[in-house]
Amino acid sequence: MADESLTIIDNRTGEQYTVPVQDGAIHAPELRRLLSYDPAFLNTATCRSAITYLDGDAGILRYRGYPIEELAANAGFLETAYLLLEGELPDAEALARWQDDVRYHTYVHESVTKFLEGFRYDAHPMGMLLGAVGALSTFYPDAKAIDDRENRYLQRVRLIAKLPTIAAYIFRHAHGLPYVLPRNDLDYIGNFVNMTFEIGGRHEANPVLQRALETLLILHADHEQNCSTNAVRSVGSSRVDPFSAVSAGIAALYGPLHGGANEAVLRMLDAIGTVENVPSFVADVKKDHGRLMGFGHRIYKSYDPRAALIKDVAHAVFGETGVDPKLEIALELERVALEDEYFVSRKLYPNVDFYSGLIYKAMGYPTDYFTVLFALGRLPGWIAQWEEMITDPEQKIARPRQIYTGEDLRHYVPVGER
Ligand code: CMC
Repeated sequence: MADESLTIIDNRTGEQYTVPVQDGAIHAPELRRLLSYDPAFLNTATCRSAITYLDGDAGILRYRGYPIEELAANAGFLETAYLLLEGELPDAEALARWQDDVRYHTYVHESVTKFLEGFRYDAHPMGMLLGAVGALSTFYPDAKAIDDRENRYLQRVRLIAKLPTIAAYIFRHAHGLPYVLPRNDLDYIGNFVNMTFEIGGRHEANPVLQRALETLLILHADHEQNCSTNAVRSVGSSRVDPFSAVSAGIAALYGPLHGGANEAVLRMLDAIGTVENVPSFVADVKKDHGRLMGFGHRIYKSYDPRAALIKDVAHAVFGETGVDPKLEIALELERVALEDEYFVSRKLYPNVDFYSGLIYKAMGYPTDYFTVLFALGRLPGWIAQWEEMITDPEQKIARPRQIYTGEDLRHYVPVGER
């Protein structure tokens, strides 16, 4: 029930619209013939969601009510995934069952491996990932039964269990290394790291680096209606299977303004080269109205709470691996930008992608692989948002309107007469 309403008079026609205002939003369909024009959804809520709370002015991020700071410090990644998907933290028994379900679905069909082998040696890992996840829909045609709760659970488990295996195979494909099979005696993160880095049957696990990776995945696990989640919801609203919907999310994440920014940050730091070059680089960005990659956010206008936590993770990781000289450039870039009126007035602060790339690099992942790690983290959020959308009776196929700006009616003229 609407608690308030808004009355709008169309001065062209005298028509009056009274639209309900509920939860701080007008119910736009009530505007009937008057369209709301909002390219890029700057001011449009496309759904009701109970998953993630985000206050951009106060720099607050919560999953199902739990502050991101508490989850990053205490929770495991699969525990966080359960929270996002089920709405509550699991008790010990539920957590063990969930971990087991995931553990026993980590293998991929041999043909998926062959499919991955078909990519060129220098294929971009995100192109491979989105292709492979889309291809999973052909291995699991039962996933089309999206109205069946148990079936959705099975596909959820398959996605979360198999994505690390596929991601690790993509890593090894790029390095020309033989694939390493999943191991049931390892936990989720340990198994992924082992499948990625094991050589000659050996990999010495570093618990600090593994916890750092787990923390990063938790920090990326959901972020309400971001570009890739919106893609998953929008494509999923056609009632396609979840593998296809998630591959659309991976495609969206690939872009440099979204998840691809972590890769772009490293390339930017390479281009800057030295700390001394920072001021001239910043001056060029301002002159050309360009972008500092890893800066700015559509919603966060004070700071990105994930970036603050990631800085702590960076210290822990560099304590193990030694400091990357690029960190100095990044710190100087942050310092210069945060004192510059151009960035301050536009409320541009480091975002989640600013330091994550440096950490991934220190862990041994190549630059073009960083966004795959983002995808591993974001997967539970995509699935939770997809399931929420599928089960929301208010959701229909996503189909925005347009304002037509083309030609009026004209008639076909044969080619010789044009
Ligand atoms: N560097 C320099 N100027 C910027 C930047 C930046 N990174 N971001 C925005 N601006 C300027 C922009 O030019 C515009 O200036 P003006 O008002 O003079 O035209 C103003 O700030 C507002 O920008 P906008 O494009 O309207 O902002 P948006 O909300 O549409 O874009 C964004 C958000 C994240 C796409 C953008 O800040 C950006 O391109 N950042 C760099 C890429 C990046 O780091 N992306 C990762 C985002 S966080 C995690 C994720 O989604 O993966």
